[in-house]
Amino acid sequence: MSRRKTDEFPLPKGAPPWRFSSSTDPKLSVIDLFCGCGGFTLGMERAGLHTLAAIDSNPQAIAVHRHNFPHIAHVLEKDLTVFKPEHLDALIHNARVDLIIGGPPCQGFSPARRRDGANHGPRVITDARRELYQEFLGYVAYYQPKVFVMENVQGIKSAAGGEFFTRVQAEARALGYRVHGERVHAWRYGVPQKRIRQLIIGTRFDLPIFTTRRYMPPWFAASEDESEAVLPLPVTLWEAIGDLPPLAAGDMQEHRRYDFRRRRFHLARYTGRYLESVLQVHRARKLTAHCARFHSDRDLRDFQRLREGESSAVAMRERHLQFEWPYSKEHFKDRYTRQHRNRLCSTIVAHMSKDGLMFIHPTQVRSLTPREAARIQSFPDWFEFPVAFTHQFRLIGNAVPPLLGEAVGHAVRCYLADARRAAVRKGKLRPLPRDERQAVEWLLPLLGAVSNNTLGRLSDPEFKRGWFSIGFIHSRLHPDSAAENGKRQLAGQTEMPLVARLAPDAISPVFAQSGWPVKLVPVAKEALRRFDSGLLREEEFYCSDAQMAGARRLKNGGQA
Ligand SMILES: C[S@@+](CC[C@H](N)C(=O)[O-])C[C@H]1O[C@@H](n2cnc3c(N)ncnc32)[C@H](O)[C@@H]1O
Repeated sequence: MSRRKTDEFPLPKGAPPWRFSSSTDPKLSVIDLFCGCGGFTLGMERAGLHTLAAIDSNPQAIAVHRHNFPHIAHVLEKDLTVFKPEHLDALIHNARVDLIIGGPPCQGFSPARRRDGANHGPRVITDARRELYQEFLGYVAYYQPKVFVMENVQGIKSAAGGEFFTRVQAEARALGYRVHGERVHAWRYGVPQKRIRQLIIGTRFDLPIFTTRRYMPPWFAASEDESEAVLPLPVTLWEAIGDLPPLAAGDMQEHRRYDFRRRRFHLARYTGRYLESVLQVHRARKLTAHCARFHSDRDLRDFQRLREGESSAVAMRERHLQFEWPYSKEHFKDRYTRQHRNRLCSTIVAHMSKDGLMFIHPTQVRSLTPREAARIQSFPDWFEFPVAFTHQFRLIGNAVPPLLGEAVGHAVRCYLADARRAAVRKGKLRPLPRDERQAVEWLLPLLGAVSNNTLGRLSDPEFKRGWFSIGFIHSRLHPDSAAENGKRQLAGQTEMPLVARLAPDAISPVFAQSGWPVKLVPVAKEALRRFDSGLLREEEFYCSDAQMAGARRLKNGGQA
């Protein structure tokens, strides 16, 4: 199949107008761990990054990955608990790694399992998959990339009382990274689906602060609300699948022809913003994986009873509808859902490999096909899944939507371009503390104000001096993570002994999750209040210059 160069991928309408030319922007290199069939990899490639290696232990995932990315030299079927970074290094020969991405398996954290009662008690802790984040961090420790991005389900935050979310962050901070969690809505980046994911982003502490606010602004509007009027409205389910040929349940033909009449009609209605820019239908020689699974006659009759956008629970409650399925109606109310053409689809899940009952087609009497699921995940039509039907669903449901991956890739490129400029333009923020002693001197009035509950009364210059001093002392802390601390506390440490002696509260104890000293959390909240009300500018709230000055000082053994 002929492939265009990745730089030629058109950005979806609504994407930020960032364009990089390879002459001014060096090609960044990325390793994808737990790569699955390559949703995240594809996003990176679309954003113009170069994939050095992609690793997964699942043979079907690797088969699909290799099929679609023949140009990636190292797509490896390896168990990451055994295959260590040293082994990879023997293949990639000390290549520079700018970014490590990955989605360690999330089943252990998934709310879906918690709901069915399987995720309570000791199993929560003993599920070995929960420890796989350590393999990810092992690669981060070895390669020291500038940035890492870990993707997971939202459930990771609350799993085992937040302990795993805490551990990932605390351990990454100990490796020299400034870490924070970010909840992202995939549909804000053009994915026609309700998918919400938790990103954990780490940047090396000697680099500026990364914020999604700056580098990953949404591409699509949240609502028709005026403040977002400049953004296009979200992509709907029908925009993503409405051109596909209609099928009957049980029609399992793997390859078929497109219906070009339907496509023309569809393009006239929706333009090519999804079909052409994202799905790249013109690059697919034939339609693959558009196969409708078999359903019993009883299920098909039940499907027909549902209205568009309706679940069986709602139909029973509001229309007193009777379904034919033979199980307890009390316990299995939520057995079916018919999706709605003009809305976002429910989150595509790996469980679709077992049944598609929560994904009934909006207008046809069948569940969605793997190709429809792939389109809803923003996989282009040329991306093929040459594995068995159930594996197709599992790989598609597990994937990071390529469009979301692309948004992450663009964000990292933009961020690192800014970081290169910041290295040239050192110390724009004023005033920065000269040394540890001055940082303590400027910080003490803020600590006093925390004790007296008078932070809000400090003058702007006094508050800023103290806030920049916190940045100087704590170059691994992220201002955004002070809003989410968890409960557990531990003893804090510093490489600035004078600060520990003169202002011990500013060092310890700390919240294990965010790393923020307990005493400084109210200061961070006051900084956010001042930022929101315009008293602190963005570069003052995210005081990268102060943090980098502190980091440089530590690197130079205490000398400025
Ligand atoms: C959530 S999926 C990742 C999806 C991927 N990021 C994408 O965008 O397509 C998690 C992956 O981890 C893989 N995995 C689980 N245990 C592993 C191990 N010990 N070593 C390597 N891969 C593993 C699974 O096979 C699965 O493909």
